[in-house]
Amino acid sequence: VLLVVLVLLIIIAVVLGVTLTGRQSAGLKTDFLNRCQNFKGYDCENIWKTFKQVFVNRDPCNVSEEAYDPLIAAVPFKRLCNQTMLWSKTNKAVHELTTGRDCLQTIEDTVLGSSLNNLSWCGMKGSEETFTTGCPEWNECVNNSVRSFWRRASAAFAEAACGDVSVMLNGSISTPFNPTSVFASIEVPRLNSTKVKSLNIVLVTNSVSNCSNASLQSLKTKLDQRIVYTCKEVTESQITDCSAKPDCGRCW
Ligand code: APR
Repeated sequence: VLLVVLVLLIIIAVVLGVTLTGRQSAGLKTDFLNRCQNFKGYDCENIWKTFKQVFVNRDPCNVSEEAYDPLIAAVPFKRLCNQTMLWSKTNKAVHELTTGRDCLQTIEDTVLGSSLNNLSWCGMKGSEETFTTGCPEWNECVNNSVRSFWRRASAAFAEAACGDVSVMLNGSISTPFNPTSVFASIEVPRLNSTKVKSLNIVLVTNSVSNCSNASLQSLKTKLDQRIVYTCKEVTESQITDCSAKPDCGRCW
């Protein structure tokens, strides 16, 4: 019996070892560095180390937003006047517009946002490795390594906004301004009227919602009252046309 138990234990250990090794990721570092190095003037190796320290050897559901403070401090968002582009439920359209043009910047166009966009990462208690698979889903636990990063980074990105700020919202859904979104819960409360002059909604619409939508009225009331609110309905094809124009004049 003892022998059988011993053999079983060995098998379990081997299977566990193989699984863990399989989940380890060298790709995360490579992806991170390759993306980071597209930006001039950053010490990407050092940024990687600071980033990694936040979540390695930790339970992936126990990484707080504050844990990313050292990373944000190491790579602060530059104060961005008249160029900040926020968004909610318009991932594709907004990046079609901002990619390759400097006049409007989403968080995904910054060095940190770009280096981590669409990646999944987490650590594991008792291991120094980084993992890209088997990490918690966005809503699986509140303090997961990925969600905490985007929430912390979005707060800093909104705090860096200044002048005229834009936000692209989705008019093909009935609640373009959703109180649970990162935009509503993290970014709007951090737009500070001492720096931000106006918030300009670009509502991408195919007629489900327009600028008189109830959720947008509630956005107006949530906004610092000294910030000017504007709303403009645009079509997908206007965005496509505008994306093709290299200059940064107003498209609508
Ligand atoms: N599952 C996975 N990812 C999610 C989820 C989810 N349930 N919810 C949000 N995300 C992540 C994804 O990376 C997604 O692309 O947040 C991104 C945006 O989610 P949306 O619901 O479309 O919008 P919102 O929550 O408002 O976040 C966008 O946050 O990062 C900032 O500046 C950015 O203004 C932008 C806003």
